[in-house]
Amino acid sequence: MRAKHPKKKNTKQKREKLIVGNWKMYPNSIAEAKKIFMNFKSKRHQNTRITTVICPPFVYLNDLKHLYTGAKIFFGAQDVHWAKEGAYTGEISSEMIKSLRCRFVIVGHSERRAIGETDEMVAKKVKHALKEGLHVILCVGEDERDDSGAFVRFIEEQLHGSLAGIMKNEVKKLVIAYEPVWAIGKGNTAMDPHSIEQMKLIIRKNMIKKFGHDVGESIPILYGGSADSTNAAEIVHEGHVDGLLVGRHSLNPDEFSKIIDEVSKGF
Ligand code: PGA
Repeated sequence: MRAKHPKKKNTKQKREKLIVGNWKMYPNSIAEAKKIFMNFKSKRHQNTRITTVICPPFVYLNDLKHLYTGAKIFFGAQDVHWAKEGAYTGEISSEMIKSLRCRFVIVGHSERRAIGETDEMVAKKVKHALKEGLHVILCVGEDERDDSGAFVRFIEEQLHGSLAGIMKNEVKKLVIAYEPVWAIGKGNTAMDPHSIEQMKLIIRKNMIKKFGHDVGESIPILYGGSADSTNAAEIVHEGHVDGLLVGRHSLNPDEFSKIIDEVSKGF
C-alpha cells in the first residue's frame, strides 16, 4: 500500500488493500502478546497486494517489532500526542513511535472520543503525526442512526473538524477508517456492503471537496466494525473500500489470517 510509496496510481487497477489490527487494551501480558504475534506471523500470506498493520498497546510495540524482520507486516500505535515533547505525563509522541520504526498510528478512535477526545484534539494529532511522516489512520463514525439521515451531516462535520487546518500537501499518508460506533465490537452487526459503499462515497466526496480531485481520490478509506472472516470479502469487494480496521478478531491469529485470506481471494 502507500507504505511502499507507489509512484503513480492507475485508478483502473484494483487498489491495494490495507488490513489493520487494533488490539486495543489486550492482551494482559507481554508473554501473551508475543504468543499471539508469533502465531500470526507463522501463517503464510501470499498476497503481496495486501498490507497488514498490527497496532498493539504501546508497551508491547518494541518487543513485537523485534520479533519480525520481514517486510510484509507493519506496526502502528493506537494513539499519539500532538506535541513534539513536553510535560505531558503518560503521553507518547510521534517522534517516539517513529524511533521504534513504527510507521502507522490510529487517531480519533471512537473509544478515545468516548473518553473526551474532541475533533480539535484529533485534528492536532493528525496534523503533527502527518508532519512527522507517520501514516495516520483517522477514525470517524456516527454513534447511532435514525431515518432522518442526520448521520450524514454528523460524519461530514466530524471529518471536517478532525481535519481542520490540514492542507492538501500534508495528506499523502492519510487513511480514513469509517467505523459506525454502533457496529463496533458487536459480533454480527457489521454494516451491509451497500451501506458501506454509500458511506465511502460520502467520505470520498468530502475529501475531494476539501483536498481537490486527485488528492481526495487517493486517500484510502477503510471500514471497521464487527468485520470477521465471514463478511470481510464482501465488505471490501462489494463495499468497495480499501481495507479493514479489525478489533477483537485481530487478537485471534487464525481468524485474523482468515480475514486476510478471504480478502485476498478478491484479487
Ligand atoms: P471490532 O472493533 O472489529 O471488534 O468491531 C473495530 C474497532 O474498534 O476498530
